[in-house]
Amino acid sequence: VIGNYDCIIVRSRTRMDAAVISRAERAKLIVRAGVGTDNIDIDAAAAAGIAVANTPQANVVSAAELSIAMMLALNRHICAANQSMHSLRWDTLSATGSELFGKILGIVGLGRVGKEVAKRAASFGMHLLASDPYVSVGDAASVSAELTDLRTLLSSCDILSLHASLLPGNRHLIGRNEIALMKKEALLINTARGELVDTGALADALSEGRLRGAALDVYENEPHVDQRLASLSSVLMTPHIGAQTREAQNRVGMEVVNVVNAFFMEGKPLNVLNMQGR
Ligand code: 3PG
Repeated sequence: VIGNYDCIIVRSRTRMDAAVISRAERAKLIVRAGVGTDNIDIDAAAAAGIAVANTPQANVVSAAELSIAMMLALNRHICAANQSMHSLRWDTLSATGSELFGKILGIVGLGRVGKEVAKRAASFGMHLLASDPYVSVGDAASVSAELTDLRTLLSSCDILSLHASLLPGNRHLIGRNEIALMKKEALLINTARGELVDTGALADALSEGRLRGAALDVYENEPHVDQRLASLSSVLMTPHIGAQTREAQNRVGMEVVNVVNAFFMEGKPLNVLNMQGR
């Protein structure tokens, strides 16, 4: 049916690859109701004369709040403690946790979400390191983060939180070699994209005790649930719910409407990512 529509609106689960785009004969605009456009072949769309736009601001607070929730939940064993109470067991000792206060947070990707995480983490008294090739030292300092290289960040941080977009060059940005640089007691939080982390390397490190824990909202091959990760008690998993709040979805809806209206009613390419120079 894709050939019948002038405008196509998708979230992250729908893959708009070159084959699908080649059938979208009437389409003028694809809107990604969210931020990441890694599920859309934006170059194939541009070649077909189809603009691709996103809603870059709408869900960043929700994504940042989920990352902070995951840090707190992992450090305080909230999920296990809750499960134990629901099984009518009062188990204080296994819920012995640690504070965020005074810990070093390594933020990979200091864009819109990374910066919101930085602001919130700073208010917990965490020390912030950030690695991002597109950000200046001053920009990082504006959210209390010290800009550094990825290797230094990995070897220094107590918690690693990923907020980079998935780009052709950064699949498995965190692989076996990178995990080997991290402290044994470190935690990894990924609410960005599953493909940024080598799942096999992460599962090996966690099962061999070379990493204390991980909280994951995103996965390679979504919505497939990785058996090995799911079997590890040191892993907290949610099903890509970073943007799944009432507020974020309302904002995303409004932004989509604005993008569609601007494009079709006013001829304005609001948030269009792929038509520069065309
Ligand atoms: C995004 O890129 O905006 C987030 O990953 C949320 O995606 P979703 O709205 O498709 O869940």
